[in-house]
Amino acid sequence: MQSDAWGYPLTTDSAEAAAAYSETVRGYLGFRADTMASLQTALKHDPDFALAHAAKGLLLCSIRSLRFYPKIKESLTAAQAHAKGLSKREALYIEALEAAFAGQLTAAVVAYEAILAEHPHDLLAARLAQMELFWLGESRWMHAVIDRTNPRWQATTPDYHSHLSLWSFGLEETGQYDAAERAGRQAVELSPTDHWATHAVAHTLVMQGRSKEGVAWLDSLKGEWGNANHFVHHLWWHRCLFHLELGEVDAILEIYDQQIRNPDSPLIQAMDDFNVDMQNCASLLQRLELRGIDVGHRWQDLVSAVSHRIGDHTSPFTSPHYVMILAAAGEDEKAHDMVLGMRACVHEDEGTLPPRYAAAAIPAAEAAIAHRRGEHDKVLEVLLPARRSLWMMGGSHAQQDVFQQMLFDSARQSGRDDLLPILLSEVAEDGFEAIAARTLYGEAAQQAAPAA
Ligand SMILES: [Fe+2]
Repeated sequence: MQSDAWGYPLTTDSAEAAAAYSETVRGYLGFRADTMASLQTALKHDPDFALAHAAKGLLLCSIRSLRFYPKIKESLTAAQAHAKGLSKREALYIEALEAAFAGQLTAAVVAYEAILAEHPHDLLAARLAQMELFWLGESRWMHAVIDRTNPRWQATTPDYHSHLSLWSFGLEETGQYDAAERAGRQAVELSPTDHWATHAVAHTLVMQGRSKEGVAWLDSLKGEWGNANHFVHHLWWHRCLFHLELGEVDAILEIYDQQIRNPDSPLIQAMDDFNVDMQNCASLLQRLELRGIDVGHRWQDLVSAVSHRIGDHTSPFTSPHYVMILAAAGEDEKAHDMVLGMRACVHEDEGTLPPRYAAAAIPAAEAAIAHRRGEHDKVLEVLLPARRSLWMMGGSHAQQDVFQQMLFDSARQSGRDDLLPILLSEVAEDGFEAIAARTLYGEAAQQAAPAA
């Protein structure tokens, strides 16, 4: 029996495996590119280490790709085979993996909550719970899971900054911006490579419309991003949101080509179809085009990375982005097939995601196709009834906003000025501040204002 870095027992006799497991947790929390290598080290030192097998399966689930399901199944089988004599905490991880593999994602969260109730410093359970709930759009639940562990953390607890970063993001997504910014900045002071805290502060700044501060914040920390995995692309995406509001288009296109979608980057070469990368790319290109900016061949360059996702219904937030890419690249048949696949999953699958596909992802995808065709009445027809359910796609308010921007564009293009005040009030309801000073929304606000 060994212990992890937080003092929780691990059912392994190998000190090397236990140390590598703790490094895996730190790597996952830190978005480090060497996370899976640490996990492989743990399993090399103890091939019977059930918790490490379960962690591997759960990390692979988090990639949201059908391609990994055979490997997830292997991890689950290995974890179950070595489950005898495990602690309750370790057994709950296997329960979480069983639930996640079966598509019962909220049941997995319940297992994480049970772990955290007795082990509030279990950062793996905290992060997995946060990410699962984040991708389900369950922001209040996401905040609550971390917030209830907060009184049990002290500044001296190992990796306190990681707790602060999780807490900060939940605060931010529930609109508690001052507290979010304080916790996020404190985490970064403790650990400048805490990319999740860097990100949480960036979210606060984007929601408050503090674009110049946002560029300065990310610029001050970009030197710390060398050990990061694909998440680094998302940090650069955030920087582009600030540049977009500042009208700095050249900076955005350069960042896109050099930092977000550089085909020579080792990260892209290792995995060119990571789902969050596709979200970042699609969302940024769409936002640029909504502001009249020509993005050249960048849509077409993404097609090969998304075409094989037809039939992959692991992420209701990403699927509409895949459709957005295919429609923009002129791949109408593939875009159509992807929506058909999404419709089929609603009827064939009984997991957590199908209702989210039905309520949010499918309308968003159909709207993306209609918008690309210039069929603005159709965008309104599809998206107006679904707009207050779009949170069910998952993702952050800042990410979901691209669909709101599309809806605004179609309302304006259709001459439906009557909709603008309603939609503007809903953007504020989602937590966006300084709306009149924003691109697109500022123009819509002026258009909506009654003549003096
Ligand atoms: Fe983000």
